[in-house]
Amino acid sequence: MYADRIKHLPPYLFAAIDKAKQEARAKGVDIIDLSVGDPDLPTPQHIVEALARAAMDSMNHRYPSYEGKLAFRKAVADWYRDTFGVHLDPEKEVLTLIGSKEGIAHAPLAFINPGDVALVPDPAYPVYRTAILFAGGRPAVMPLLKENGFLPDLEAVDPKVAKEAKLIFLNYPNNPTAASADRAFFRQLLDFAIDNEILIMHDNPYSEIYYDDRRSYSILEIEGAKEVAVEFHSLSKTYNMTGWRIGAVVGNADAVAGIGKVKSNIDSGAFGAVQDAGIAALRSSKEVVDSIRKVYQHRIEILASALQDHGMRLEKPRATLYLWAHVGQDSIAYTESLLEETGIVATPGVGFGQHGEGYIRFSITQPTERIEMAAERLERMRAA
Ligand code: MLT
Repeated sequence: MYADRIKHLPPYLFAAIDKAKQEARAKGVDIIDLSVGDPDLPTPQHIVEALARAAMDSMNHRYPSYEGKLAFRKAVADWYRDTFGVHLDPEKEVLTLIGSKEGIAHAPLAFINPGDVALVPDPAYPVYRTAILFAGGRPAVMPLLKENGFLPDLEAVDPKVAKEAKLIFLNYPNNPTAASADRAFFRQLLDFAIDNEILIMHDNPYSEIYYDDRRSYSILEIEGAKEVAVEFHSLSKTYNMTGWRIGAVVGNADAVAGIGKVKSNIDSGAFGAVQDAGIAALRSSKEVVDSIRKVYQHRIEILASALQDHGMRLEKPRATLYLWAHVGQDSIAYTESLLEETGIVATPGVGFGQHGEGYIRFSITQPTERIEMAAERLERMRAA
């Protein structure tokens, strides 16, 4: 029945984990779900209220525009200017997405012909690789190793593969390793892409989830980036809006137009009322995200100490919602026994690719008291 395209595809990582969670719950286990990066904090009230108002507007009941409301795209451009000092033309350099996952999954259809090579990191958000495969492309893996700060070693990419590659997916602050990239790395990446005529697709949903006041970057801050790069952004993690499905792709105008052409043939745009609420989100005061960061930072302190005491090796992240812990053994078996013994659900590193083997990812998107409870359960397991 199935096309080859999905025949050998493993189940989507987080769908598979959902199944394990349901089974544990059915057995009566009080699970603490630290698997998916899905903020537990509610969407700020002013955004919810903006949605309620916008839902009453009958103009929003009709088909939205394919590229998104200009007012939303302007709000994205203003946010990029205020956050990163990056100037974008809202008409040509910003396209609304139904969440960034949707845009990432569709984008390669605009640039990859069957058999074309695309560079993807490993470990990585699984959608990059799948999106290349769906477009008929050949993913070429760039390992993200601890000794390189979980950055790809661009000099180690086979020059023949680099010349063949049409696009490259990357994501810093990184999911799942929680690594950050500095401006020097982005400069090196741009030079590599320019030399090899590769389109960069930088996925940046975690840019605002940083700690110790060390902000993260947009690749578009680097001179010349618009020539070769687009960046995917999402309101999901910054404003606790994973359920709303709203994001944008920005940057190189031709690439944005290509993605728009694909999308106009697939979907009919994001719900207008969600875009109106998105404008309210993007115009939020700085305090909104500052207070969210404080909550996460406290949770990281609690969980990082508990995992370290438990014998896992990890660095406290500078950004993201994740702790990437080295356990040095089969990550699926480890997460299974962790669930069995403590009720804690984490994500096995191998789910993000073979170079994630030996690691487990923990998300801090559960209420602080549940994270404290997870720390206590780990302590009890160690003492037993
Ligand atoms: C994750 O846990 O890796 C993310 O929440 C998945 C996503 O953003 O789709």
